[in-house]
Amino acid sequence: MAAATVFNRNFSSLALVLAFNLAFALTSFTSPAEARGNGTAASYTVDPSSACPNGSAINGGRFLAMVQARAFNNGAACGRQYKISCIGGTNDVKEPCIKGKWVNVTVANLCSGDSCDTFTLSTDAFDVIAKHDAGRVQITYKRLH
Ligand SMILES: *[C@@H]1O[C@H](CO)[C@@H](O)[C@H](O)[C@H]1NC(C)=O
Ligand SMILES: *[C@@H]1O[C@H](CO)[C@@H](O)[C@H](O)[C@H]1NC(C)=O
Ligand SMILES: *[C@@H]1O[C@H](CO)[C@@H](O)[C@H](O)[C@H]1NC(C)=O
Repeated sequence: MAAATVFNRNFSSLALVLAFNLAFALTSFTSPAEARGNGTAASYTVDPSSACPNGSAINGGRFLAMVQARAFNNGAACGRQYKISCIGGTNDVKEPCIKGKWVNVTVANLCSGDSCDTFTLSTDAFDVIAKHDAGRVQITYKRLH
């Protein structure tokens, strides 16, 4: 009886650990910048040098994004498109989001370093979804293709 209780308790904590690992594996698979999710975005002035072939010319060069190394995946992400919307602020700027606005961006570069946002957007793209002065906002994103 006691042995069975101990067994059951161990079994359910094992199941919990497995469930947690599974949830973690699924979470890490879909982030960052995979199918959909939330994150942060900052704006940048398009850098003519790019880690993607034809980088700064992609899509006419207006609505571009840099992504973190993991999402960039050695260039596999070049040319991928995401739609992005602002969902909140990260600083003192009041009402930073342009409500209801989405922008489609194309991955055109790598953001290297540990302090990169989920997306670093060309200023033209950033300004579609947020007040320019906000500089950095919380976003939700969805991969288009
Ligand atoms: C992203 O944020 C939105 C709005 O705050 C929320 O409804 C949604 O559940 C969040 N999604 C994820 C994957 O966290
Ligand atoms: C690079 O950009 C030029 C000019 O926009 C275009 O003609 C060319 O087809 C592009 N090459 C690739 C590989 O996208
Ligand atoms: C963004 O892409 C989606 C899917 O391809 C398309 O339906 C939508 O019209 C695009 N929006 C803009 C502003 O280009």
